[in-house]
Amino acid sequence: MNAIPSVKLIDGKATAARVLAEVREQVDTLRRGGVQPGLAVVLVGLDAASQVYVRNKVLRADEVGIRSLEQRLPSDTSQAALLDVIDRLNRDPRVNGILVQLPLPDHIDEHQVLQAISPLKDVDGFHSENVGGLAQGRDVLTPCTPSGCMRLLRDACGDLRGKHAVVIGRSNIVGKPMAALLLQADCTVTVVHSRSHDLPALCRQADILVSAVGKPRLIGADWLKPGAVVIDVGINRIDEDGRSRLVGDVDLAAALPYASAITPVPGGVGPMTIAYLMKNTLLALDLQQQAAQRERTACPSPC
Ligand code: GUN
Repeated sequence: MNAIPSVKLIDGKATAARVLAEVREQVDTLRRGGVQPGLAVVLVGLDAASQVYVRNKVLRADEVGIRSLEQRLPSDTSQAALLDVIDRLNRDPRVNGILVQLPLPDHIDEHQVLQAISPLKDVDGFHSENVGGLAQGRDVLTPCTPSGCMRLLRDACGDLRGKHAVVIGRSNIVGKPMAALLLQADCTVTVVHSRSHDLPALCRQADILVSAVGKPRLIGADWLKPGAVVIDVGINRIDEDGRSRLVGDVDLAAALPYASAITPVPGGVGPMTIAYLMKNTLLALDLQQQAAQRERTACPSPC
């Protein structure tokens, strides 16, 4: 008889709390030295979900001692006005991280806005310089959700080298950077998407399965290799039995007997995104301090 592996639910809430405690300690040390990291969060418009995300980001920053600056702009803010705000934040020495909450209203060119953020303050890791740096394996700011997933995977699996990771989804926010981070960790990486043939068969090859498609309970038992580690990035709101609830891309009950470790929704990947935003704010400060040091070395006297 095949032994069914014992299942482990990956507790993202607990891991995020550990990451935030590490961040808080580092912030305390910085503040004792007279430096307080700062994070600016920009929200354009009144999208309900975005308002909740932004509120949570600001609250978490305050909790760990990072100075938060919330910029709420009306839905009809012009592209030029938004670029002016970003320019001001780029030049503000008290601001180490800048995040523009997505999606932006339709009349705004998202790419141009993200490219306007200084790459050293780009705590989302969405600027093409950081995207390219990640592809080249350089030490750059990387997107928060995939970075958080990597921490969960390292805690669950230890050494990732040589494992076959399958990423479902090819978004710029999750799928593509997730694949790049897994490749950097020496995994064999397959990216599958809505046009891939026979998704379940491709996913059954995965030692590590990361799903970021946004389809409630798409992934059932027949998509999993026994013993796979499953990271469910999907957060989908459904109505069930007369009430609204959040579920992932993975059918948790169906997957439980097959996965060796799996993130639940809620309480899996979700809390890691904000924790890594805080970590990225400290990394951004560090990169800015290194850049300032390089400038001083290159040009020691005022020139
Ligand atoms: N909207 C949904 N996810 C994200 C994210 O990770 N960063 C930003 N800026 N906006 C988002």
